[in-house]
Formats: sequence, structure tokens, C-alpha cells
Amino acid sequence: MENKIKNTLLVFSGKGGVGKSTIAVNLAITLAKKGLKIGLLDADIHGPNLALMLGVQDKIIFPDGESQILPVEINRNLSLVSIAYFIPSLDTPIIWRGPAKMKIIERFVKEVTWGKLDWLIIDSPPGTGDEPLSVAQLLPKAGAIIVTTPQDVSLLDSKKAINFAKKLNLKIYGLIENMSSLECPHCGKIINLFKSDSVAKIAKQYEIPFLGSIPIDPEIVISGDSGKPLAMNNNFKTTEIFLLIANKILNKK
Ligand SMILES: Nc1ncnc2c1ncn2[C@@H]1O[C@H](COP(=O)(O)OP(=O)(O)O)[C@@H](O)[C@H]1O
Ligand SMILES: [Mg+2]
Repeated sequence: MENKIKNTLLVFSGKGGVGKSTIAVNLAITLAKKGLKIGLLDADIHGPNLALMLGVQDKIIFPDGESQILPVEINRNLSLVSIAYFIPSLDTPIIWRGPAKMKIIERFVKEVTWGKLDWLIIDSPPGTGDEPLSVAQLLPKAGAIIVTTPQDVSLLDSKKAINFAKKLNLKIYGLIENMSSLECPHCGKIINLFKSDSVAKIAKQYEIPFLGSIPIDPEIVISGDSGKPLAMNNNFKTTEIFLLIANKILNKK
């Protein structure tokens, strides 16, 4: 089957642990719910966890005879390919050498039989190093969203990530603030844990769109750990936020 990928979206950050995988998987689900064909590529060599988040870590993909890699179907509109399928055990750290890393990412992008996709969403490894660079180079028309948390250290790294995306001429769909606030489970009051408008200010300063803020939501962790990410359930407030962000991305296409 021939690949026809209309849009690509790299989800990246300057730093690990800011919620990149969480946002990649929930945005993918949100876009798939809108009837779009979505491919999700877990290219985080150092911590692939999308298969786990989607509860398909035991589905091994076999090449289809012509060294093609077939995605795992999550539902009618969503399919996944993960580096996790190529490593023997998720708790074994792998020491990748530069060329081996490049090779595996190249295979991911070129040899996967995605078929027709409206969007290919790529969860890239953290930082502005080799791997996001190689992914971006293989996808010259790639778009990007940058994820940050509101703490100063993450903000500093996100500025680097924005500059990096600009340097690579990626189309920047915008900046997402994750873990912005917390709703008190007792009284419902919103607690802003850090400066509440710092991420929006950075977006303004760098002249890129601000896509929205995702609160700290314990449901994200519970649902992510159970293999059914939050956005699969329409009853959560945070699901609505993912929908607003997805709509902003579609409007910028
Ligand atoms: N908004 C949020 N609310 C609560 N927990 C979150 C949120 N975003 C991410 N997490 C949790 O934080 C951890 C790190 O998120 P992850 O998406 O794996 O980050 P990254 O891919 O950037 O390393 C995960 O356990 C995830 O469930
Ligand atoms: Mg991750």
C-alpha cells in the first residue's frame, strides 16, 4: 500500500517529563474521534511509552514480507508504531550509538506502511539533539507543537526548542502549557502552581500561537496507566481542553 500522509506533527519539548507523550496520545485520539485518519509514531528511543499508554505493548508487529513495518490498529482511525516493538524489554535501557539511532528513525518514517493518513503525529525524544533533528530532516514539511510546563527551567528549555523548530523551518502550530494548575478536589478552587501567564507570554514573545493550558489532572495518570488515555472518555473536563487544542491545530493547517 502506498503511503499518503497529508500532515505531520512533531510533538516535542526541550525537556523530558513535561507531558509530551501524554499530549501526543490524547491529541491523536481527539483527532481520530473527529473522523480523521491518524498515525502515531513513538520515536522516543529513550523512553517509548505510547504502546503502554494505549494498552497494546504485547502486540508485536511482523514485517509483511518486504521489510515493511505494519502499524498496530488502535481503532478504525488510529494506528501506532513504536520503537518499543523493536526492543526486548521495556525495563532494559538501550545504549544507542548515533548511526543506529538515525537508522531506526529513518526506518520508522520511510518503511512503515501507514496507508492514507490525515495526520502523522510523532512523539519525539526530549531535547534538541540528534533524534528530533533527524526526524525533522526526514520530514521537510513537518509541523511542530512544543510542550512545556510553567516552571522556569522548562520555560528556558522550551525557548531553545522554539528556536530549534524555527531553525529547521518547521511549521510551528504553537506552544502548549501542561500541568498549569490544579483543581482542589474538595472545594473546586483552581490553584495556579506557578506563574499563570508565563507560557502565553513566551508564545507572544516568539510570535507563535499559544494553543492552551492543560491542568494537572489525576485522571490523566490513571487513564494513561490503564491503557485507555483520558481523551477516549468524553465525560472529563480535560477531554474538552484537548478538543479545543485539536481544533486550533486544524484551523491553522
Ligand atoms: N496534565 C497532567 N496531569 C497529570 N499528570 C500528567 C499530566 N501530564 C503528564 N502527566 C504525567 O506525568 C508523567 C510524564 O508525562 P509524559 O507524557 O510521559 O512526559 P514526557 O513524554 O514529556 O516525558 C506521566 O506519568 C503522565 O501521566
Ligand atoms: Mg515521553
